[in-house]
Amino acid sequence: MKFTLALASIVSSAIATLPAIEVKGNAFFDSDSGDRFYIRGVDYQPGGSSNLTDPLADKDICSRDIPYFKDLGINTVRVYSVDNTQDHDDCMKLLDDAGIYLILDVNTPDASISRHDPGCSYNHNYLQQVFATVDMFSNYTNTLGFFAANELINDVDSLYTAPYAKAVVRDMKKYIKARNYRSIPVGYSAADVSQVRGELADYLNCGNDSDARIDMLGVNDYSWCGQSSFTISGYKEKVALYDGFSVPIFLSEFGCNEVSGSRPFTEIGSIYSTQMSGVFSGGLVYEYSEEGSKYGLVKIDGDSVTTLTDYDNLKKEYSSTSDPTGDAGYTENNDFSECPTGWNFSITVPDTPSKAEDYFKNGVASDAGNGFDADTQGSCDDDTYEVSTTVGGSSSNSSKTDDSSATASGSAAKTALSSSASGSASSSASKSSKGAAPEIDVVKYSWTTAFLVVAAGFFM
Ligand SMILES: *[C@@H]1O[C@H](CO)[C@@H](O)[C@H](O)[C@H]1NC(C)=O
Ligand SMILES: *[C@@H]1O[C@H](CO)[C@@H](O)[C@H](O)[C@H]1NC(C)=O
Ligand SMILES: *[C@@H]1O[C@H](CO)[C@@H](O)[C@H](O)[C@H]1NC(C)=O
Ligand SMILES: *[C@@H]1O[C@H](CO)[C@@H](O)[C@H](O)[C@H]1NC(C)=O
Ligand SMILES: *[C@@H]1O[C@H](CO)[C@@H](O)[C@H](O)[C@H]1NC(C)=O
Repeated sequence: MKFTLALASIVSSAIATLPAIEVKGNAFFDSDSGDRFYIRGVDYQPGGSSNLTDPLADKDICSRDIPYFKDLGINTVRVYSVDNTQDHDDCMKLLDDAGIYLILDVNTPDASISRHDPGCSYNHNYLQQVFATVDMFSNYTNTLGFFAANELINDVDSLYTAPYAKAVVRDMKKYIKARNYRSIPVGYSAADVSQVRGELADYLNCGNDSDARIDMLGVNDYSWCGQSSFTISGYKEKVALYDGFSVPIFLSEFGCNEVSGSRPFTEIGSIYSTQMSGVFSGGLVYEYSEEGSKYGLVKIDGDSVTTLTDYDNLKKEYSSTSDPTGDAGYTENNDFSECPTGWNFSITVPDTPSKAEDYFKNGVASDAGNGFDADTQGSCDDDTYEVSTTVGGSSSNSSKTDDSSATASGSAAKTALSSSASGSASSSASKSSKGAAPEIDVVKYSWTTAFLVVAAGFFM
C-alpha cells in the first residue's frame, strides 16, 4: 500500500502543473488551495528594450535565470514581449517547476497600437498577431494573465487612445472565450499619469459590455523612493483612490532608483501588509537585469549572472515579509466603475475590424505569428497592405489570405504614419514612468529617421 502511494505521488508530481490563478472580486486566488494570491515578482527583460530578446524562447537564457528567481523567492515574472514564432514549452515548464507564473504583454514593437494613429493601427492584422500570442500561451496553467497594452496612455494628450486599449481588451477576452480557453485575466498596465490616474482606471473598468472591461489593472508606480513610508510615498492616497475598484490591482512596475547607493526595497513591508491588501495584490520589481538604466537586480554577462546589492536587499525584504493571512480585506462584489464624463473625445469603444470577426469563429492559423518582424501599425487599409504570402499547411485557411508578411510592406506603411507627434510621446514616457520605453524610440529613430514612427503602446 505504501509503495503504491509513493509511486502515485511520484507520477503525479512528474506531470503536476501549477494551479491556475483566478480572479474573484478584487483579488487573485489560487484555484487549488483557495488562498489569496499575491504577486511577488520581477519584470524580466534581459537585453532591455534596445536588444529585443524573448527570454522564454531560449532554454539557455531562462534556465540561467530561473535559479535566481527561486533564490529571490518570487512567484511571478512579467515579460514585455515574446516572439510568437518560437516554442515556449521548455521555459514555461521550467518556470512551472520553479513555482513561477507569467504575466505577458502581447505586443511587439511594430505590432501594437500607435499613439499617433490608433485608428489605423487597430486593424485585423494587428489582432491576428495578438491572437497568435494568446493561442501560444493560453494552455499553460502558469500563464497568470495578459496585458493588452503597456503605458499606451502616458500623458494627458494620449488619453484619447484609451478607447483602443479597451477595444484590444475586449477582443482578447472574446477570443479567449470563443476558443474555449481557460478564463485568463486580461488587463492593462498603466503609466503613472497623475492628472488622469483615477479616471483612466475607471474608464478601463466601466460600461455595460463586460468584455470591454479589464479583468485586472497593473500600475507602474515609482513613488516610493528609498526609506519612505506608506504615507510619505503616496501609497496611502492610492489605496484611497482605488478603494472600491471591482477588479485586482497590483504594481506592474515598482522600484524607484532615485536613491544614493542601493535600493533598500522597504516598500515590500507595506505592499504585503493589510494597509494595502484590501486594494492591492502585490507587485513586480523593475527589473531583473541591469540594462544601463540602473534598475537591475543582477548583471548579466553571457552565461554568467552576478547579483547586485539591490538583489540582496530585495531578497532580504521578501524573505522577512510574509503575505497577509486570510482574505486580508478583499471585496467580492464591488460594482464596476462609472464611465468618466466630460472627456474631450468620444469614449465609445471602436468596433472590432470586420475582418477580425473570422478569428473568433475559426481562430487564427497556427503559423499566423510573425514574431518580432510583425509590422502592422500602418496596415489600416487592407487593400494597400495586402501582400501575397503562402498559406502553408494550416488548419484555418480563411484567416491567412491577406496576412501581413509584415516587413514587406513595412516602410510603405510607415510613411503614412510620419509625424511630429512622436517627440512628445517619447519625452513624456520618460517622465511618467521609469519603464524601458524611451530607449526604443531612440533606436527606432536612428534606424528610420525618415519615417519618424512611434511605436506607442509598446514599452511606454
Ligand atoms: C542581444 O541579446 C542576445 C541574447 O541575449 C545576445 O546574444 C546578443 O549578444 C545581444 N546583442 C547586443 C548587441 O547586445
Ligand atoms: C493543453 O494541455 C493539455 C494538458 O497539459 C494537453 O493535453 C493538451 O494537448 C494541450 N493542448 C494544446 C493545444 O497544446
Ligand atoms: C483634451 O484636452 C486636454 C487638456 O485640456 C488636451 O491636452 C488634449 O490634447 C485634448 N485632447 C483632445 C483629443 O482634444
Ligand atoms: C447600462 O445598463 C443599465 C442597466 O440596464 C442601463 O440603465 C444603462 O442605460 C446602460 N448604459 C449604457 C451606456 O448602455
Ligand atoms: C479552406 O477554405 C475553403 C474555402 O473557404 C474551405 O472549403 C475549406 O474547408 C478550408 N479548409 C480548411 C482546412 O479549413
